[in-house]
Amino acid sequence: MAADRAAIVTGASSGIGLAIAKVLGEEGFALTVASRRPEKLEAAVAELRDLGHDVESLAVNVADEADIKKVVDTHRERYGRLDVLVNNAGVGIGAPVAEIQTKHIDMQLAINLRSIVLFYRECTPMLREAAGEHKNAIVVNTSSISGKRGEAWLSVYSATKHAVVGWTEAMNKELSADGIKSTALCPAFVDTPMTDFVKEHVPAGEMIRPEDIAESVRFLLRVSPACIVPEIMFIRPGDAL
Ligand SMILES: NC(=O)c1ccc[n+]([C@@H]2O[C@H](COP(=O)([O-])OP(=O)(O)OC[C@H]3O[C@@H](n4cnc5c(N)ncnc54)[C@H](OP(=O)(O)O)[C@@H]3O)[C@@H](O)[C@H]2O)c1
Repeated sequence: MAADRAAIVTGASSGIGLAIAKVLGEEGFALTVASRRPEKLEAAVAELRDLGHDVESLAVNVADEADIKKVVDTHRERYGRLDVLVNNAGVGIGAPVAEIQTKHIDMQLAINLRSIVLFYRECTPMLREAAGEHKNAIVVNTSSISGKRGEAWLSVYSATKHAVVGWTEAMNKELSADGIKSTALCPAFVDTPMTDFVKEHVPAGEMIRPEDIAESVRFLLRVSPACIVPEIMFIRPGDAL
């Protein structure tokens, strides 16, 4: 079914990605959502459909190049256009530097960074077509506040998230004149399953809400073609940079 506006959101089965998918649905976007565990994704898709949104879903591993192509091909076949790409899937695996496991380095690089490069490569032709129509094709890359300041123990995660900020900057230099605008989102602790490990020390109620992050995407949709927002930081009160 063709759509007036369409978006891909990775890591949309919970937390920030699901909140962004809801905002995009409310804003009239047809959605392709992709994440890893099928049962969890199905529950999220049921929630999105109950809200009345048009949703395609794929349970994939974004560390796998073939899976990324499958997401983009399925999206193209179903909707025929791409106005917004949200590269949000990510993992953080903490370890002291002397104990970092090679498989965890590779996993974080593949999911947090390499997948974003591959999604851009596969999606640029569709984004360019959309930008040709309205000069407001948007790519949102979920970095982290660890992409602005390196964190002990989360060193590899921090390095991948810094890379996402650098990649976003490079993409704006390369693509923004054509109407493809990229933004890196850089949040501190958000209340999602990813931060369960720290909730003993930082209560969930004191964390940023996933909906706070999602509202920034609504803002990006409304920003005129004359304006690029290269990054947005989300910080908790008292936690100045
Ligand atoms: N929560 C925070 O405090 C915080 C702060 C800064 C940045 N971030 C970033 O925000 C993004 C979203 O995280 P979140 O906090 O919303 O956590 P979350 O609720 O755990 O969401 C992570 C999402 O990514 C998916 N995912 C993970 N590995 C994947 C893979 N290999 N292939 C496909 N999908 C995969 C997960 O699916 P499964 O659950 O099925 O694996 C899930 O949908 C991440 O990039 C994270 O680094 C989070």
